[in-house]
Amino acid sequence: MKKIGFFNSKGGCGKTTSLFHIAGVLADNGMKVLAVDLDKQGDTTNALLSEDESEYSDNGKNVLDFFRGDAAFEDVVKKNYTKKIGCRKPTYVGIDVLPYSPKLENQRLLKEIELSDKMDDFNEYDFVLIDCPPSNRAIEKIVLEQLADGILVPMSSDLDSIRGYGALVDKVDQAREKNVNLNILGIYMSMYDGRVGTQRELLSLMRSSFDTFIDVQIPHSAAIVDSKLAGRPISFYKKTNVKDTMEQLTQEIINRL
Ligand SMILES: Nc1ncnc2c1ncn2[C@@H]1O[C@H](COP(=O)(O)OP(=O)(O)OP(=O)(O)O)[C@@H](O)[C@H]1O
Ligand SMILES: [Mg+2]
Repeated sequence: MKKIGFFNSKGGCGKTTSLFHIAGVLADNGMKVLAVDLDKQGDTTNALLSEDESEYSDNGKNVLDFFRGDAAFEDVVKKNYTKKIGCRKPTYVGIDVLPYSPKLENQRLLKEIELSDKMDDFNEYDFVLIDCPPSNRAIEKIVLEQLADGILVPMSSDLDSIRGYGALVDKVDQAREKNVNLNILGIYMSMYDGRVGTQRELLSLMRSSFDTFIDVQIPHSAAIVDSKLAGRPISFYKKTNVKDTMEQLTQEIINRL
């Protein structure tokens, strides 16, 4: 079982979207995946769970209840049902979700969370994928110091992403004092448009600057967005270049574990 955090303090850089599609590729290859939604916006939860499972909202049990010891794992975890192309009925493909809480921004509730006695609940999964919020120091600390084995860093195609990377490395280095095996699995470009000259320049800058760079670019693509809106990862659609790319990216991540 590997626990991977999708981590970047910068907002809107593709954390949730890439988690969603990588979860799909893993599930399509028979892996059992748990998506842990630590963003109060609930984007991962909303992408993976249908609206009629809305128990996960304000009144339902959620990831914060589990983390604080107020609810058992089995009372919180929800199953994602997705329609495989060609199948009539929704199919369970092996992605479970620990749904978000709107209270995840409450720093007081996040203090004193101790996860060591809760990790056994994750053992039935091959991969635990953790969606981090854009800027929430308490959650960042929990993810880096207690939860993740590895960090994946999606980068949007702008220079600000690169500028913020040094601070991210410092946070990971600091967290390693408590979580000795924590490492950065890789940085990748999450919405790349090779037709744009500045993006090509940025790509070559990243290639030369980061030894953790994963040289597989998720294309800026309507298919990536539309399939998320439809709640069906790209891996469950017919073969396309975008699907191939998500499979290559996932394979490269697995190679680095
Ligand atoms: N490859 C892509 N092509 C086109 N649009 C994309 C792509 N990846 C992400 N997006 C869009 O960019 C926006 C930000 O993506 P996403 O929500 O995944 O980022 P995030 O890092 O999770 O954001 P936040 O920090 O707010 O949680 C969304 O509207 C998403 O649909
Ligand atoms: Mg997000």
